[in-house]
Amino acid sequence: MIVLGIETSCDETGVAVYDSARGLLAQSLHSQVDLHAVYGGVVPEIASRDHVRRLLPLVRQTLADAKIEKPDAVAYTAGPGLVGALMVGSGLANGLALGWGCPVIPVHHMEGHLLAPMLEEGAPDFPFLALLVSGGHSMLVSVAGVGKYRVLGSTLDDAAGEAFDKTAKLLGLPYPGGPALAQLAEEGRADAFQFPRPMLNKPGLDFSFSGLKTAVMLQVRESESLGALEKDRANIAASFQQAIVETLVKRSIKAARQESLQSIIIAGGVGANKLLRSMLADQFSGCVHYPRPAFCTDNGAMIAFAGAMRLADGATPQAIQAIARWPLESLEPPGGDDWAEGIRLD
Ligand code: KG4
Ligand code: ZN
Repeated sequence: MIVLGIETSCDETGVAVYDSARGLLAQSLHSQVDLHAVYGGVVPEIASRDHVRRLLPLVRQTLADAKIEKPDAVAYTAGPGLVGALMVGSGLANGLALGWGCPVIPVHHMEGHLLAPMLEEGAPDFPFLALLVSGGHSMLVSVAGVGKYRVLGSTLDDAAGEAFDKTAKLLGLPYPGGPALAQLAEEGRADAFQFPRPMLNKPGLDFSFSGLKTAVMLQVRESESLGALEKDRANIAASFQQAIVETLVKRSIKAARQESLQSIIIAGGVGANKLLRSMLADQFSGCVHYPRPAFCTDNGAMIAFAGAMRLADGATPQAIQAIARWPLESLEPPGGDDWAEGIRLD
């Protein structure tokens, strides 16, 4: 089964061709980061328009790279995400599938992220614990199979990526802040400032990052008032990164133990963070899996792969979908799906 995957939920246009027999055949990505950087964040209307401009040429190029004329199915990100951006991918995927006379599979963006480690060699078997940390989500999910997800904990306020981005902004770093902050942190001392490790003393598995962000803001103000901000910037970045990563690692290990799971996978944009990967691998006694950094952030390969997994399990969807808010736990295993007919725009 050869599946064309299309991702347009936010500010990356991602396209890929995945073959269930031969693996990933081709993939392309166009990042809109430069377009949004001047605004300090993603502007939804600009995102949609750029997807319109880029998507079809990218599909043509990716099919040519994969040396195929048409796939056996088209998978696209149906949500959650920016509804205008989602509609671009959803519209093209459904149009192409209609023209080609092949099935079209709506994919949940976070399911794409959490299955992405399975694109790599030595992929984990079900069940496993997924730490999903992106710009919009932070959650711990017990994964028993495709569509069999139990959210064990999630953030009560900011997502982990959002906390990285907002802290980076406080330190005068460009958007997107996560990678820039991680780079600056390499020049600093992680023990220079003692920032809080939010929620670690509380029961349960939820996260909260707004207190940490406030603590960093107060430190930035103090350093500024002392005329020491330039000298302290790298130390603040390193101490912040240490605090947030330690929180994510401790919570993940607690969740894995509680659920008796032997493997943890890290997925989503923050999964590209080197300290997070190394600290979790050092401290967890089981196996830790993560995709290559390019498959942690948004991409078409994870959507093509999730679509192929759903198709293999007998998914038979019909509706054109673009769903801005869509709880991961509402997903069902393929085959048992109860898809509405027509167009669904929530
Ligand atoms: O999964 P993703 O590409 O998009 C969403 O679905 O949100 O995640 C983007 C997020 C941004 O907040 C970005 O700053 C963060 O992932 N990020 C990182 C790193 N690379 C990307 N955060 C920390 N360290 C990194 N190396
Ligand atoms: Zn994402």
